[in-house]
Amino acid sequence: MTKIRSVVRGTGSYLPEKVLTNDDLAHMVETSDEWITQRTGIKERHIIADGQNTSDMAVAAAREALDRAGKTIADIDLILVATTTPDYTFPATASIVQNKLGSSHGMAFDIQAVCTGFIFAVATADNYLSAGMAKCALVIGADCMSRILDWEDRSTCVLFADGAGAVVLEAVDSPGDPHDRGVLASTLRTDGRHWEKLYVDGGVSRTGAAGHIRMEGREVFKHAVTMISDVVLDVLRKGQLTLDEIDWVVPHQANKRIIDGVEKKLGIPAGKVVVTVDRHANTSAASVPLALHEAVKDGRIRAGDYVMIEAMGGGFTWGASLIRW
Ligand code: UT7
Repeated sequence: MTKIRSVVRGTGSYLPEKVLTNDDLAHMVETSDEWITQRTGIKERHIIADGQNTSDMAVAAAREALDRAGKTIADIDLILVATTTPDYTFPATASIVQNKLGSSHGMAFDIQAVCTGFIFAVATADNYLSAGMAKCALVIGADCMSRILDWEDRSTCVLFADGAGAVVLEAVDSPGDPHDRGVLASTLRTDGRHWEKLYVDGGVSRTGAAGHIRMEGREVFKHAVTMISDVVLDVLRKGQLTLDEIDWVVPHQANKRIIDGVEKKLGIPAGKVVVTVDRHANTSAASVPLALHEAVKDGRIRAGDYVMIEAMGGGFTWGASLIRW
């Protein structure tokens, strides 16, 4: 049975210029390069400049993705921005991005699923495209976590950072089998019982202020590997593929130990996993598209490859998508 597939036409990313190393952080809080490297695999991260906003990073990533897709903003009729750090309480950052890119047609809205935001956005765009609601989507993950960090809390301020990544997805009529290009399957999950383990202690209706990230790191860690493994296996089942057939796994870049844990639990060869956490840290919704773009640009991910993207984060939310490039 034929099916409309959401085919990736281009990727892009943006990282702020300023680099903050572990040694820099050791001058700010009681920590060390050794502790951060051992516990997380992070060596450095990028931090947004004063006066720069989430939409600025999103627009830069979007422009590169459009260029590489051979598209212009006129081709786009759906813009999704996955973010936890919007420019304003409203409108959606997607509206601001649409305007900055010079468009006023189609639809644009934000997706809030914290670190899993990009996976939720890809799955949402895929459903809009396959239902015929849109023809060509710009899917962006963008976050400036540095703005909601408590810079005196060493247990969180060493982990998160800023950036943006984007993909262009286009609706293509396809045979409807596992050899199709495009998004082949997705699984999204939420379990709100865990929300207090990773949250921001402010918000419009409670405090009127943005607040700061609070996290029970060990609790998040405990659930991460199991939750991620569960959705990866579910997506493989839906896509009728085995792990051996997957060319690249592009995980959320929160902690190298979580990435290694999933690798070990599922038996994924290390050479198939894209890792950027050492240089990007946890950029929340931006982490997967930043890593995706890096692996596309350096030639690792090529047309025809089977790519698994996955993430887990606040909510708890978690999810995975299988994409044939
Ligand atoms: O998208 C999901 C986002 N969240 C995550 O990915 C977080 C998942 N969790 C983790 O990555 C890990 O739990 C952390 C990296 C946050 C922490 O590693 P851990 O091995 O679970 O350490 P811990 O929280 O159990 O803390 C161990 C010790 C504590 O000291 P005591 O109580 O044993 O004396 C902390 O106070 O390490 C201390 N500590 C630090 N020491 C130096 C906590 N943060 C730091 C720090 N530098 N930055």
